[in-house]
Amino acid sequence: MKEIKILSPATVANVSCGFDVLGFCLESIGDEMVIRKTNKKGIHITKIEGYDLPYEAEKNVAGVSALAMLNDAKPDFGFEIEIYKKIKPGSGIGSSSASAAGSVWAMNELLGRPYNKTEITAFAMKGEALASGCEHADNIAPAIFGGFTLVKSIAPLKVLEIPTPVELYATIIHPEIEIKTSEARAVLPTEIQLSKAITQWANVGSLIHAMHSNDYDLIKASLHDAIVEPHRSKLIPHFNAVKNESIKAGALGAGISGSGPSIFTLSKGKENASVVAEAMKKVYSKTNINYNLYISKINTQGIKII
Ligand code: HSE
Repeated sequence: MKEIKILSPATVANVSCGFDVLGFCLESIGDEMVIRKTNKKGIHITKIEGYDLPYEAEKNVAGVSALAMLNDAKPDFGFEIEIYKKIKPGSGIGSSSASAAGSVWAMNELLGRPYNKTEITAFAMKGEALASGCEHADNIAPAIFGGFTLVKSIAPLKVLEIPTPVELYATIIHPEIEIKTSEARAVLPTEIQLSKAITQWANVGSLIHAMHSNDYDLIKASLHDAIVEPHRSKLIPHFNAVKNESIKAGALGAGISGSGPSIFTLSKGKENASVVAEAMKKVYSKTNINYNLYISKINTQGIKII
């Protein structure tokens, strides 16, 4: 195999209570990338469509992760990367992670699969770090493993695959404002109250239990964020209205997708996901903020060849 074309999916990180550790993979939106072996050594980004991003491999998230893998694998050839960017940078649905994970996932295929998913995740984290200023894998891991993942630790890197109840759907609204991850991290406190921490870890534990036991009521009872959302929600216009209307429309829960501005909800069944989508839309339709809306089954496969 000399060349492959892949779809690297968008992802939702944090999932309310699991800041920097939980994430899940979406089906209906992702970046397309073509990765090709070349005689010319090194990593060469030859095409970028969709958004204005740097061509220098050292300045591009897909290039940085690719260089990390290349320096480890040391093949006697190089790679060309074409990026057809569909996920808007700064939208909160794992735009940088999709690119960072896509390049190394595809290179691993072309190299004959020398690395496992955890090792691919570790290379991709180098690219993600360029975008967000710190290494975290809560978007990268679900893009590579598919489904829901929990990043148990990053040093050493340990990713747990969490089962996905089959009727679970996500609805995402992306208001067209940009929030940089670094800015959304800067508004967070460095210390938290013990009582809030207790609430948060109880919710993380019960959410994981709910996923294992297909307990939608418990998913609903666990999708709360006592720590991050109160600070970040101020950066997203109409966040509280979207959240309240989604819950009224029957969503299991609603929260900030990654570092925002996208807002995610989870629903039991596609029908409810559509009802929730209408409720979310209604809030932004009354404002002058443009938005995109996605309804997606949870993507249990992750990155795939197309
Ligand atoms: N966990 C990260 C955050 C995801 O919320 O800052 C965004 O990169």
